[in-house]
Amino acid sequence: MITIKNKSALQKMATAGQKLSGIFKELPLVIVDGVSTAEIDAFIARQLTSLEMVSRTKGYMGYRHVSCISVNDEVVHGVPHKDTVVRVGDLVKVDICASWKNYCADMARCFFVGEPRDPRAIELVKVTQQALDKGIEQAQVGKRLSDISHAIQQEIERHGYGVVRDFAGHGIGKQMHEDPELLNYGKPGRGAVLQAGMTFAIEPMVTQGGYAVFVTHDGWTVKTEDASLAAHIEDTVAITHEGPKILTRS
Ligand code: MF3
Ligand code: CO
Repeated sequence: MITIKNKSALQKMATAGQKLSGIFKELPLVIVDGVSTAEIDAFIARQLTSLEMVSRTKGYMGYRHVSCISVNDEVVHGVPHKDTVVRVGDLVKVDICASWKNYCADMARCFFVGEPRDPRAIELVKVTQQALDKGIEQAQVGKRLSDISHAIQQEIERHGYGVVRDFAGHGIGKQMHEDPELLNYGKPGRGAVLQAGMTFAIEPMVTQGGYAVFVTHDGWTVKTEDASLAAHIEDTVAITHEGPKILTRS
């Protein structure tokens, strides 16, 4: 069942989104050569606390961190660790889901530590952003869920990149993960008819090579099979009669 949020719920989600977006604005100062992903996570934990936000990943299925931090060929769900140190050239993806007054926002962005090691990584991130934006463009009253999926896939594959299939976007609200699952690929015109008050976390995961991924021995971290570089960008979006409202951008 897809929950429809009323005005007050949407306002809380919007506030959660704006607070998260504020944390992301600070991250470039933190994601520097030599910092560990555990230190980045600790910074985020302090920010969440001072913004009266509650992490939705800490405690989720035994996960112990307030963010997922995935480096280079890690796609998503990278586990912050004191021994994982980022270096100049790395592509670092940070994903945070947290709630304010019990309503969630979910957001992920890509960061480079200095100049990217692979100059083609800039285009990879740009295309991932474009794919997300094309998907969001379809988040309109009366369209179907898979119109979003299809638009994302088209933009990614048009540039020759891989669409990761094993993970997807999702509904969001009081819970981090609500119905429906929102695939990043598929034929248009399928699935639920979009209605005002629905809210989705839209999150394309894009690879420079093949789209096959695997979960590493920590039970969380998702990496590309072929060790190709991956990007991931996520926004929380509300369907409104005035068009898509991106809650995690300022
Ligand atoms: N924020 C992630 C998402 O978009 C969820 C991370 S699950 C975790 O779905 F437990 F690994 F944090
Ligand atoms: Co998400």
